[in-house]
Amino acid sequence: MFTELFCRFAVNNKFDWCMNSITELVICLGSSCFARGNKKILETIQQYIKDNQLEGRVRFRGNHCFGKCIKGPVLKIGENFYEQVSEENVKEILDSEFRQVTGNDRLLV
Ligand code: FES
Repeated sequence: MFTELFCRFAVNNKFDWCMNSITELVICLGSSCFARGNKKILETIQQYIKDNQLEGRVRFRGNHCFGKCIKGPVLKIGENFYEQVSEENVKEILDSEFRQVTGNDRLLV
């Protein structure tokens, strides 16, 4: 699909072209991660995508258990797994993955 190879998006009031820009963002919706708060994390991610106009750059979906329940909630962005994700750290994780798009330059601690 054309939009999976090329996209045009606004960053700080300018337009950039990007290639292969679709990043898959997968949240575990298994029962353990869900019981540990993934519903709120899911909502936070949806809002982050909207606030940062990432709709054309991110494919966000849920997935069944990743087999890392003890370390949940689990989030996968591209090839990177994040464990013990919380409402408090999910924005920092997203900023670290998408900082070139959002302009947010905070790093994970
Ligand atoms: S329920 Fe999320 S990793 Fe198992």
